[in-house]
Amino acid sequence: MIAQLRQQVLDGWEKGADFFDERWGDQGDEFHHDVFAPAAEQMLGLERGAKVIEFACGNGAFARRLGRAGMSVLATDLSPSLIAHAERRTETISDQAVDVSYQTVDATDERAILNCGGPFDAAVCIMGVMSMPLLRPMFGGAWRVLRPRGAFVVVTLHPGYATAGYKLAKSEEEGEPHGLTITRYLSRYVTHGRTNTAQKEPQIYFHRSMSELLADAFASGLVLDGMEELAAPQQPIEEAKLMWNFLPEIPMAVALRFRRV
Ligand SMILES: C[S@@+](CC[C@H](N)C(=O)[O-])C[C@H]1O[C@@H](n2cnc3c(N)ncnc32)[C@H](O)[C@@H]1O
Repeated sequence: MIAQLRQQVLDGWEKGADFFDERWGDQGDEFHHDVFAPAAEQMLGLERGAKVIEFACGNGAFARRLGRAGMSVLATDLSPSLIAHAERRTETISDQAVDVSYQTVDATDERAILNCGGPFDAAVCIMGVMSMPLLRPMFGGAWRVLRPRGAFVVVTLHPGYATAGYKLAKSEEEGEPHGLTITRYLSRYVTHGRTNTAQKEPQIYFHRSMSELLADAFASGLVLDGMEELAAPQQPIEEAKLMWNFLPEIPMAVALRFRRV
């Protein structure tokens, strides 16, 4: 069952790799660039020279951002095609020499994480956990490759709103969303969704409640010492307007900082 789900996830990202690479570009899409990456960067609070491992790096936008700020980054992802895009972009687009390397690693395989070496000063995973049928291997792996007091920052779609089952509430006059009715939250489920209106094939993703997500981290020995709930920007580029841009009081994402103690 898990093997099948892993394969479905891999097939989805492999198939979508060119589309996503183009959409994300060198610096990530506007949500990544304006909301998720600054939150992760601030929570990591790293100094130049820090050694970082990234899980689910996609085409490497955050790894390059850290690299430009002087960090030494090992960025990993399940999808060989996205890793190839990340390498190409880092070689050809980066405007300065950065210490960033890439490796194909399945973050649901703890042994594969341990093979990445370490110790690392910090770990990060942005918008990856919704694609993972299991989280214990990544949390356990992070604990084992982090140095003591090292931070692991996870930014994910908010389980209470964005991956929960919801219906949109719309105003009668404008037809614009002004709220959500949450219909399903506590039970774990597997579903399909689009992260982008231009996306043709929906992606498989895994909903789990906040307590379940945290329980997997705590069972691995990590403690939570920071949290920030993140809303979408209210004034995006017009054609990129998503429902979240109309809901500034509802956090679409959450950044969690765990620590190895
Ligand atoms: C929404 S994208 C986020 C990419 C990047 N972190 C960003 O914020 O732009 C999700 C990423 O998770 C990766 N992924 C999915 N399952 C994974 C797994 N088991 N191990 C590692 N990466 C995985 C996908 O290949 C994809 O690159």
